[in-house]
Amino acid sequence: MTQKLALVTGAARGIGLATTKLFLQEGWQVAMIDRDVPALEEASMGLDGAKAFVCDVSQPEAVDQLITDVMATFGRIDALVNNAGVADFGPIEDTSFARWRTVMETNLDSVFLMSQAATPALKASRGAIVNIASISGLRASTLRVAYGTSKAAVIHLTKQQAAELGEYGIRANCVCPGPVRTKLAMAVHTPEIIAAYHDAIPLNRYGSEGEIGEVIVFLCSAKASYVTGQVISSDGGFESTGVGLPALRA
Ligand SMILES: NC(=O)c1ccc[n+]([C@@H]2O[C@H](COP(=O)([O-])OP(=O)(O)OC[C@H]3O[C@@H](n4cnc5c(N)ncnc54)[C@H](O)[C@@H]3O)[C@@H](O)[C@H]2O)c1
Repeated sequence: MTQKLALVTGAARGIGLATTKLFLQEGWQVAMIDRDVPALEEASMGLDGAKAFVCDVSQPEAVDQLITDVMATFGRIDALVNNAGVADFGPIEDTSFARWRTVMETNLDSVFLMSQAATPALKASRGAIVNIASISGLRASTLRVAYGTSKAAVIHLTKQQAAELGEYGIRANCVCPGPVRTKLAMAVHTPEIIAAYHDAIPLNRYGSEGEIGEVIVFLCSAKASYVTGQVISSDGGFESTGVGLPALRA
């Protein structure tokens, strides 16, 4: 049987690495993409069926070269997971244009660039795109002017992709993770933020990388063959909930 190929960005750690391992368990091959060379080398070591590609996915020329290299190696792309992301929380007044652009480049520009460059291959495979946004793209909060706005744009970009690429049999969906204890989250989650998340989440805990990965792999699989243009939260119920949980628990 021909093995399918998933391209996962930000695969050196966190949600991207967990997703890579789940794809491999399901019998897919994986092109692991990251710009952190030592982390990528370490993460990909010993993962049968995975191959590492170093790339900064926010850079147009690098992305074009990457897709050429992945096609030269595997000859196909069946799923594209746009997972690479950066977080930078700060007040609106302190967010310089340079900080804003840094967040937009990776979180939003890369999703546009990678999806566009992979479209010919995805047309050929009638493949799937899964973009990783965030609960911060669905609900506004303090300090997330750049991060939250970038993720809200990813949610809409997903719907644009689904609308236009459905013609070619390409599905595009978006996963919005709630909080997961990765390096990205722990760099911006203060003790106060961690406590506030617990207060606001019906399941009363952070999620795991694998719990996000399972949703991503499902959306890439044939089991989701009639699902496109959807935004699915894997968030312990955070997005669905209003006020009152802490009082109810007490
Ligand atoms: N962890 C959370 O709580 C959480 C919540 C909601 C959404 N997310 C989203 O999930 C995705 C994965 O986050 P994570 O928590 O696993 O983060 P992480 O920091 O553990 O991993 C992100 C990976 O992306 C890579 N990366 C960043 N910019 C890149 C670029 N320009 N080119 C190539 N690689 C790049 C990093 O080197 C890193 O290996 C992100 O899009 C993030 O915004 C995370």
